[in-house]
Amino acid sequence: MAVHMENRSDLRLIGNRPATRALDDDIDLAAKSDARVLITGETGVGKDLIARLIHQRSARRLAPLATVNCAGLTDTLIESELFGHARGSFTDAYRDKPGILESAPNGTVFLDEVGEMSPRMQGSLLRFLETGEIQRVGGTTTMTRANVRIIAATNRDLHAAVAAGTFRQDLFYRLDVIHIIVPPLRERREDIPVLLEHFLDYYMRHHRTAARGWSQDAIDLLSAYDWPGNVRQLRNAVERMVLRSAGPRIEADDVPADLRPGGRAATKPSDAAATGTHGPAEVRDLLRRMLETGESFWSTVYGPFMSRDLRRDELKAILREGLERTGGNYRLVVRLFNMADNDYKRFLSFLRTYGCHLPYRTFRMEAGSGRSMRVA
Ligand SMILES: Nc1ncnc2c1ncn2[C@@H]1O[C@H](COP(=O)(O)OP(=O)(O)OP(=O)(O)O)[C@@H](O)[C@H]1O
Ligand SMILES: [Mg+2]
Repeated sequence: MAVHMENRSDLRLIGNRPATRALDDDIDLAAKSDARVLITGETGVGKDLIARLIHQRSARRLAPLATVNCAGLTDTLIESELFGHARGSFTDAYRDKPGILESAPNGTVFLDEVGEMSPRMQGSLLRFLETGEIQRVGGTTTMTRANVRIIAATNRDLHAAVAAGTFRQDLFYRLDVIHIIVPPLRERREDIPVLLEHFLDYYMRHHRTAARGWSQDAIDLLSAYDWPGNVRQLRNAVERMVLRSAGPRIEADDVPADLRPGGRAATKPSDAAATGTHGPAEVRDLLRRMLETGESFWSTVYGPFMSRDLRRDELKAILREGLERTGGNYRLVVRLFNMADNDYKRFLSFLRTYGCHLPYRTFRMEAGSGRSMRVA
């Protein structure tokens, strides 16, 4: 769980195309009321950013925004994060602990990756949304209404999940009061040049490099690319180019091969999951999507693993690669696989729950024998 006060006034949605302006209007509208918001869109399109903007522009801005990532936690852990638990209700529950629905009074609770919730958790959440009542795990008393505003996000197609029977329709309707659909970057290519300018400026300052601009050829080349990892992938690509190019302008020649036409084929986020099999080539592809495209572990690996499209040995192979690249440092693996730093505990608990945790020591020794540490 992450609870934080939102005080970043630099939080901004970049883009100048009508679709982005419409998105900005949606955010303003959502910020005016307390209605539940459902944000959907592919990985890296800005769902998280939009949730933060809604909170920041709302009357709740001075109260906390608490985020629960529903992927990668067991039911007991999500339940205890949301509703709290009573002492002794499960092995690690040493004390009574309030859940975030209680600890963010007058604030906003952001349920990220809500499409990953198990049927049982969907039931508990639905009960809370209908009654506003909170019962701590293992507790006997029921507390009444928490004054929180719920925003949920997912990169799953919830309509399809409802049709397939994996997501409860009644829960969907409860969450889907204001629905913000964030289009993928390839459907709003006019935003690409503005985003390129924005992130170039940001990374030049961040890395204190000499001033630099884009050549028109480079902009044209990058505007033609499909960006399966959307804005996150674009941001990571700009950082790489800022660090690697030398001249006063970033030229078409500085654009990495995989972002050019005829470079390695861009896969849509759902493609690998749809194939259903993950041989060594698929494992490599999943790794590439995280390391080069900037897709997050939660959508790329965790999702297929939970829906049994990815086997445990394949998940372990992916983890092994991450540990090799970071010299056995799980915190760096969290970054390498594009998770938030505070997903560290969740990541480890997920690996342990499913018997996929690997001892880091093996990789420490390899790191000592000359393997370089590399974090994209
Ligand atoms: N329109 C935008 N303007 C500026 N930055 C953006 C915009 N859209 C996305 N970003 C940035 O791109 C990165 C990815 O966005 P974000 O984390 O919100 O994506 P997401 O949709 O939540 O992805 P995921 O489904 O993988 O969780 C963040 O650094 C975010 O600030
Ligand atoms: Mg997100």
